[in-house]
Amino acid sequence: MEEEKIDRRGFIKKCILVSGALTIGSLVPLTKYFFPIQKSSGSNKKKKIANVKELPVNSAKMFSYPVKDPSWGWISECVLIHLPSGEFKAYSANCTHLRCIVEYKQKALNRENVIYCPCHAALFNPSDGSVISGPPPRPLPEVLLEIDGNGDIYAVDFRVPGEEREK
Ligand code: FES
Repeated sequence: MEEEKIDRRGFIKKCILVSGALTIGSLVPLTKYFFPIQKSSGSNKKKKIANVKELPVNSAKMFSYPVKDPSWGWISECVLIHLPSGEFKAYSANCTHLRCIVEYKQKALNRENVIYCPCHAALFNPSDGSVISGPPPRPLPEVLLEIDGNGDIYAVDFRVPGEEREK
């Protein structure tokens, strides 16, 4: 009789465990339905990279954020620029020619306020990442930014010019 009670208790415990597991298992698809994961990349994470007070106008700061470059795959070196216009822009800092690290310069090769690649003297436009001169075959991928009410600057995603990614 005692053995039968233990078996019954054990059976009930197993039933509770199984029903709990089934409930949790059924919540996973519901969670995915209501909070879909973007397919586009492993990036798309919101990451604080600076505060507006850290960067005077016409200056730049390097930071790390995952960007998928069509030639180099996943890379993380990026540059945040406070343009003379007051706007903030950010790009992958890997040159699209041979992947040297680019830098923002107030003056380079007789041009003002440019992104400069020291390896083969290329210039990029800091307003849109496009190639001004030199051998790079395409613009720099752009890191998309958000700035909150406290002036905190976040990288939220990236964009490769000419490529539309599936969301
Ligand atoms: S690596 Fe940048 S111009 Fe060649």
